[in-house]
Amino acid sequence: MSPLTASVHAEKPFIFDLTSDTATIPTDEMFDIMKAATRGDDVYQTDDDCKALEDYVADMMGHEAALFCTSGTLSNQLGLRCLLFQPPHSVLCDSRSHVFNYECGGIAYHSQANVVPVVAKGTYMTAEEVESKINRDTLCGAITRVVSLENTMNGTIMPIEEIRKIHDVARANDLKMHLDGARLWNASQATKTPLSEYGKCFDTISICLSKGAGAPIGSMLTGTKELITRARHIRKMMGGGWRQAGMLAVAARHCINTVVPTMPETHALARKLGESLQALGMKLLLPVETNMLFIDTKPTGLTIAELADALKAKHIKIFSNNGTTTRLVFHYQITSEAIDNFIQVAAELVQMKKKSGFVPPPPSNSVVETIEQTAESAYPSATVKN
Ligand SMILES: Cc1ncc(COP(=O)(O)O)c(C=O)c1O
Repeated sequence: MSPLTASVHAEKPFIFDLTSDTATIPTDEMFDIMKAATRGDDVYQTDDDCKALEDYVADMMGHEAALFCTSGTLSNQLGLRCLLFQPPHSVLCDSRSHVFNYECGGIAYHSQANVVPVVAKGTYMTAEEVESKINRDTLCGAITRVVSLENTMNGTIMPIEEIRKIHDVARANDLKMHLDGARLWNASQATKTPLSEYGKCFDTISICLSKGAGAPIGSMLTGTKELITRARHIRKMMGGGWRQAGMLAVAARHCINTVVPTMPETHALARKLGESLQALGMKLLLPVETNMLFIDTKPTGLTIAELADALKAKHIKIFSNNGTTTRLVFHYQITSEAIDNFIQVAAELVQMKKKSGFVPPPPSNSVVETIEQTAESAYPSATVKN
């Protein structure tokens, strides 16, 4: 599939949008496929294409059933809600996780649960860190019921070996396991780990269709038949029951089959840009393990706003701010040519700074203070966290 076949771009220049992998543009091919979709009612489970997508993803995950949802926030919140019954109870998760920071406090609202954020020392939370935070106090505590992991997180991968260790800790403590796998496709493709290996470690998994997979809308929740039946009921209560959703199901399935296998190329392009920007003197704030880059332009004297402005001429869009850190996210509609242009623009700007008298600081070995600060500082404030 050509990544750039959206007719809307016939008149306008295509924008290479590096602000998020949610920024992919649905293609003409997807619209053609949608025309042939079944037109049943998903609330009554009479749409064959919705059912086929649910069976397809459940099967890949090695789970019994799946539920097609509008968003990753919905599938996360439903997953957690279905694993939690009655307060006092709590969810343990990484302090940087989406379920804790960017879902509008949904866990408190939907599940009446306390959230215990674990400040991990590294790019991912370890089994020891999880174990040390389990609340077993049945007198004054909100006892831990669920461990919620996220993979990838800020583009970095939680190794399957660590997930298995956390799973063992959780089972030994009678805890349920949820995964925010919004970008699990990326982790799976990068490490060649089948989704079913992750499936073995979790009671519920949320996996997004509208991020790196490139579908226009959607996210899946997978789990046992019993859990998914409950999730379907609560989805309806939340107003998430949708009717003729078959067209979205076929577009999503098409993307799983055609876009997901191209992720290793997308990751390679991210690494290429990372290495090139580093060679120009910029700092990488996190390792580039999949499709995200966190950069600091400070050692080059450039601001992100200067870089963002110059990139516009090449139709490249990044989150702009007056500081020196930002996040760049890759997806299948970012071409190799666009990245070559990015590198050229950055190189010219760095050269101009030098000519204007900017003296780069001596190379420093100091790594960023903490991983947590890194992710925080690289998100320009008041921008969308997706
Ligand atoms: C890690 C992670 N989980 C969940 C979500 C929620 O997805 P959505 O925007 O579809 O609600 C996002 C994106 O926003 C995300 O980045």
